[in-house]
Amino acid sequence: MMNRMALRVGLAEAVVADEPSLRDLLDDTELARADRKRDPAPFVSAHALARRTLARVLHVDPADLAFERRCPTCGSERHGKPSIVARPDWSFSLSYTDTLAVIAVAQGPSVGIDVEHVEEADFDSFDRLTLAEEEGAAFAQVHGRDLLAARAQVWARKEAILKATGHGLVVDPTEVVVTGPESPAALVDWRAEESRPEAVSLADADLRTPDHRCAVAVLAEDALEVHRID
Ligand SMILES: CC(C)(COP(=O)(O)OP(=O)(O)OC[C@H]1O[C@@H](n2cnc3c(N)ncnc32)[C@H](O)[C@@H]1OP(=O)(O)O)[C@@H](O)C(=O)NCCC(=O)NCCS
Repeated sequence: MMNRMALRVGLAEAVVADEPSLRDLLDDTELARADRKRDPAPFVSAHALARRTLARVLHVDPADLAFERRCPTCGSERHGKPSIVARPDWSFSLSYTDTLAVIAVAQGPSVGIDVEHVEEADFDSFDRLTLAEEEGAAFAQVHGRDLLAARAQVWARKEAILKATGHGLVVDPTEVVVTGPESPAALVDWRAEESRPEAVSLADADLRTPDHRCAVAVLAEDALEVHRID
């Protein structure tokens, strides 16, 4: 049998900075969105990272990049997964917290990335809101900060898949079953009524920022290989 090539996904991360010069990279629509935020810094840092990274990968000027969106649920072009106008052969995905932004970039199949701060997984209803019944067992013997890190990793796996499909949290994450925190990342079962993607490849991604957990998904059968592009 022929060995399949691993699909290479580029990943870059940036610590959120309240740095006025980052605004110069954004277009008017992005600046207007930034200024509607209580704290614009995470949005500005994330979108500056996206423009810088995509410009480098595609050999274009950051200002020449244009984005469009499409929601697979309602067809609206006002929200949903963003893509690059004129470069449908590339896919990217952006995720950010109050302190960290990450981007994944792939040529070919749709990509999704999610990053979570481990402290954000510190709430009582985590299991009920996020996990299928059988997934909870994998967390039973994990406690303290290890538990938060395990929750954040599994949560990132589920959301990375839902960002690759473009559904986002329109799909209930309890209906997207993934492997437990001690096992290699993989989709185990899709129980949502929205159509199951034909193929999903999933991987955890190591970050330089130890208080976050991250996962990357592509809608392809090929194994995923995450490589740094920052
Ligand atoms: C996608 C989603 C899960 C991300 O939420 P989050 O964890 O708060 O945010 P993250 O930092 O991980 O990701 C945000 C980025 O994901 C991207 N994104 C937004 N919607 C997306 C979607 N449907 N699929 C994939 N990526 C999406 C955008 O780049 C967004 O950044 P921006 O808003 O600054 O442009 C959430 O926004 C969601 O569930 N959206 C779907 C809601 C929806 O479409 N409702 C209407 C249906 S008709």
